[in-house]
Amino acid sequence: EKGNYRHFMQKEIYEQPIVVAQTLRSYLRRYEQVVSLPQIDFDLASIRRVTIVACGTSYYAGMVAKYWFERFARLPVDIDVASEFRYRDPVLEPGGLALFISQSGETADTLAALRHCKAAGQTIAVVVNVPTSSMAREADLLLPTHAGPEIGVASTKAFTCQLAVLAALAVHLAVKRGLITHEEEAQIVDQLVETPAALNAALAHDEEIAAMAPLIAPARDVLYLGRGPDYPLALEGALKLKEISYIHAEGYASGEMKHGPIALIDEQVPVIVLAPSGPLFEKTVSNMQEVRARGGKIVLISDAEGLAEAGEGCLATIEMPKVHPLIAPLVYAVPVQLLAYHVAVAKGTDVDQPRNLAKSVTVE
Ligand code: M6R
Repeated sequence: EKGNYRHFMQKEIYEQPIVVAQTLRSYLRRYEQVVSLPQIDFDLASIRRVTIVACGTSYYAGMVAKYWFERFARLPVDIDVASEFRYRDPVLEPGGLALFISQSGETADTLAALRHCKAAGQTIAVVVNVPTSSMAREADLLLPTHAGPEIGVASTKAFTCQLAVLAALAVHLAVKRGLITHEEEAQIVDQLVETPAALNAALAHDEEIAAMAPLIAPARDVLYLGRGPDYPLALEGALKLKEISYIHAEGYASGEMKHGPIALIDEQVPVIVLAPSGPLFEKTVSNMQEVRARGGKIVLISDAEGLAEAGEGCLATIEMPKVHPLIAPLVYAVPVQLLAYHVAVAKGTDVDQPRNLAKSVTVE
């Protein structure tokens, strides 16, 4: 039931504070300030390497997780889309954790990759939204997301719930490997508990984003730029826009612009920049200047500090709350979802059931 919402996608975007809170509740012991995973009968501290496999939006959640696992747990991470993974004869050594991410738990390529890894002796972890799905049944370590049924073909709440689980897993692996103290863990848990409030703060910009949609709707091409964990968010933003508005969109790592895509920039190409303030911000600002020098129109999504520094001269800005870097990808998902949604509404497309797409891709 859509209730007061015009589309399932819109409803699902708005459900995020609640379903992310629900998901986090089962991975955090808030008062003890620790991360706790479901019971498993092997020692996560013995893992030597992580292989992440998924498709589409779930793959982008995996790309964010790669940053987290490397940064917090110092684990080497290999990641691939499921349709490529199996056919490249991946090296799977003993002691490896193979991690599959899927909303449906039925995506054919991801399921086939899971079985491939199982046969190769990997421990199988699955982050999945449908608890009765094939992937859930075949997991050694089942890490459910509690997003509830997702009806819109464009994945929204499943993505942020996947990120919530993956953040908890990254912190847990870091603890198990003796890389963060209990005090640091406690601080991170406190930050994670704040996520739903930060998602609400992001949702509060809905009308403003709706108002800027007519500026983007006439575009033929749109670029999304981000660095670090916001690079996968740029890819996700571009996927969401092309899926439902049929506008050609590409996500790039900001620093890759001058290696090719900058040739596309002119007054007709909006460039959406995802850049929370922080150590990488200055670098992104110089990439923005390169875009601006070529007449490109920028929509900057950042926090107050970032907007104060680089907001001037942009076509539009969207202010996100200032949050812990671990939470930023969840929060920045909201404006890219809303932007895609409102542009699609402005163009009059079938938002919940875009052409040529199925909710669950159960054939190769
Ligand atoms: O059910 P899954 O998470 O395995 O599905 C993977 C992709 O098919 C899915 O994320 C797809 O890219 C969405 N339509 C993106 O919005």
